[in-house]
Amino acid sequence: MKKICFLAVLLSLFTSLPAEEYPLYDFENYEIGTEFLLKDVSGNPVSAKSYAVVAADPTGKDNKVLHVLLVNSWNTYPEYPLPDGFTAAEFCTYQSVAFSLYRPQVLPKNNDNMQTAIYLGDKKIYQEEHPNYPDQGERGKWHEKRYAFTPVETEASYFLLGLHADTMEYYLDNIRLVRVEKGYDYTDETQTLRYYVEQCGNGKHIGVATPSSWKNVIDLNNDLLDMSQTVFRNFNMVVAEDDMKFDAIEPNRNDFNFGYADALVDFAERHGMKVRGHTLCWHKQLPEWVTKNEDRNSHNYSREELLSILRNHIDTIVSHYKGRIAEWDVVNECLEDNQRSYYYGESYMYDLRASVWSKGIGGKLGWGDENVGGDFIDSAFVYAHRADPDAKLFLNDYGVENRGRKADAYYYLAKHLVDNNIPIHGVGLQCHFKAGELDSAGLVRQIQRFQELGLEVIITELDIASSDKQADEFRTITNIFMEQKNCPNMVLWGVSDRDSWRSGALPLLFDADLAAKPAFFAVRDALEKAWNDILSVAPVPNDARPQSPYVDVYNFAGQKIASGMRRESVNFLPTGIYIVDGEKIMVR
Ligand code: XIL
Repeated sequence: MKKICFLAVLLSLFTSLPAEEYPLYDFENYEIGTEFLLKDVSGNPVSAKSYAVVAADPTGKDNKVLHVLLVNSWNTYPEYPLPDGFTAAEFCTYQSVAFSLYRPQVLPKNNDNMQTAIYLGDKKIYQEEHPNYPDQGERGKWHEKRYAFTPVETEASYFLLGLHADTMEYYLDNIRLVRVEKGYDYTDETQTLRYYVEQCGNGKHIGVATPSSWKNVIDLNNDLLDMSQTVFRNFNMVVAEDDMKFDAIEPNRNDFNFGYADALVDFAERHGMKVRGHTLCWHKQLPEWVTKNEDRNSHNYSREELLSILRNHIDTIVSHYKGRIAEWDVVNECLEDNQRSYYYGESYMYDLRASVWSKGIGGKLGWGDENVGGDFIDSAFVYAHRADPDAKLFLNDYGVENRGRKADAYYYLAKHLVDNNIPIHGVGLQCHFKAGELDSAGLVRQIQRFQELGLEVIITELDIASSDKQADEFRTITNIFMEQKNCPNMVLWGVSDRDSWRSGALPLLFDADLAAKPAFFAVRDALEKAWNDILSVAPVPNDARPQSPYVDVYNFAGQKIASGMRRESVNFLPTGIYIVDGEKIMVR
């Protein structure tokens, strides 16, 4: 039955109309005084003083509403039967619930209790969480609320909706389901980013950082969630925004926490996506047991001890994911921002950042502070390579994407590693750009000189601050990514602007409702252009493969217009250019 429910959800997703509201309860058809059942989800009896009853609008308007009074009743909500013939699976396709909320001038005993909760049958599908004690708006007024919930598989015939309160009074009205217009339909693969990058057949990946577990916006075990679908339908690579960092994965010495990271790798495998690992050795997001101060060895560990901490960390994690994580950011942000000694005598050099690793392990590499050394870099790469010889290993940094001292220092550091046979396969350019910062000629030059060293270059953490040029800048960088041969992957640093680490900058492809922004369409157009360029340069010869009498037909925009059409029938399509078996066909 589980399967059938899931199919029903998929089916209704495919047949769904754009932006829609489905009214559930406006209470107008009920007599004043009609009681709604109150249910305590913890299974306790509901106090006899509590009630939920249809009443007149407290603002005096000619309108009926539901009046709820809870007295010492935790976890207790009104129960609303689903309309006849309307299934829980259909309910879930909407992805959000909206309603009006009114609270009279009566204070609940404790503000903490005012979180909204929604259940579908006995499954909780939404709960406002700590630390976001919700502001339910000024008392004595109606407020509009809308919450995205987590779809679940259930055959429930009712839902619960109310405030998670102990003792309080509130009114509800206009409860409805909302399906937000996304501007595109991700259930049609030809409208997604992933489709176009994969059509190119050149092995490139478009990736995204999945929001940190503590942001509570993705459940990697739930493929029905809007956020999950946005990720796996649009992208074919993922990286954990925070959950593979040192503090998340080894919070206490030799005590590894793989929970979220494992769920991410499972998610990726379930959806045929590659995983980037981020990051093994960094000065930030370290647990206190490593250091209490990011630019110091605050516990005065000896060089040997720090090397053994680093080796155990890298060896355990990389071995754990051997063969499952394709590439690792091994060393992150190891360069100083200000490269003072970058030209030294006859040769170019680089200043390393002071960190527990550079200070505690030391070594001869690098200039600047004489107590800072680069032995940790060589060591980290060697440890990672030993643990998984097939994983590709990267440096990663910011402020190195265009021209300038730090960009040069990055090149010389990578060259040094290559010259010394350290197992490095490429470098990451983070690309956290301010508006107008992208310098395309500088970026191309930077990518190409790493190619001369035999290194790949990955756009690892792309986000571009919003401006009227945002979409164009995303288009430009996508073109560069698709054109440069040694640039196999481009990764967005987050999904929705709402959850971005640069929240005010609105720097991503999707807005707070996961609706596609102009930047999304610019990226998709650039990927589609790359595919068309490939088709026009290298048409697949007709005789290269056996011909099936049935073909799928695409229009020039890449949208599938017919599946399994008889090959001869293509000639009877309306005048235009079609793509059949990877070849352009002109019908006159
Ligand atoms: C950021 C995350 O996005 C935030 O959630 C976290 O609080 C701080 O780190 N360079 C990196 C990333 O290499 O790991 C950083 O990610 C952004 C800058």
